[in-house]
Amino acid sequence: MEVLRLGHRPGRDPRLTTHVLLTARAFGVEVVHLEPPDDALARRVVDLARRFGGSFRVLGERSGRKLIQDWPGSTLHLTMYGEDLDELRTRWTLEGPVLVVVGGPKVSREVYERATYNVAVTHQPHSEVAALAILLDRLLGTPQVERRDGARIQVLPARRGKRVRDLTSSSRRLPDPYEEAEAPP
Ligand SMILES: C[S@@+](CC[C@H](N)C(=O)[O-])C[C@H]1O[C@@H](n2cnc3c(N)ncnc32)[C@H](O)[C@@H]1O
Repeated sequence: MEVLRLGHRPGRDPRLTTHVLLTARAFGVEVVHLEPPDDALARRVVDLARRFGGSFRVLGERSGRKLIQDWPGSTLHLTMYGEDLDELRTRWTLEGPVLVVVGGPKVSREVYERATYNVAVTHQPHSEVAALAILLDRLLGTPQVERRDGARIQVLPARRGKRVRDLTSSSRRLPDPYEEAEAPP
């Protein structure tokens, strides 16, 4: 499964796109396409992801519409105007690799027409991050405590406070992941 984030505005609101990428990764997606490309933002998130382990790539796209058009499997476009997620799941047929499409401020009509399914997570306006998390939870489940391949740090469950295991031998201070991913260099 891969995710396409459409309509990113480089330099305007790095935080929302950062959170789309982090959310996709946290739920097990290994490739996110970003339209338009934003190399600096992608690099920051991929650097952070590397420390938490697993495989994760961000691919810059000049045309999300072309990616959707040429996609070899099913495309799920998240929009409040779509069909109900939970009802749709009882009858959809997903073939080949799945591309989940989340929009930005404006989504063109063509995206609605080309998507295999337009999927609503409620019919109320909210956020691409929330919609993506719910869809991925339904499709892939929510990963429980896990240590990903190659991780250098692992967060452990804690009733209070923070428990972080440093999986390297170094004892340097572990940076705050959000501060690091969002902060422009
Ligand atoms: C802030 S909304 C803006 C939508 C935009 N005005 C449009 O033309 O569709 C950004 C993205 O959040 C997602 N989103 C927001 N509410 C949603 C909902 N109820 N169900 C599914 N996705 C939603 C969609 O992917 C949408 O493109």
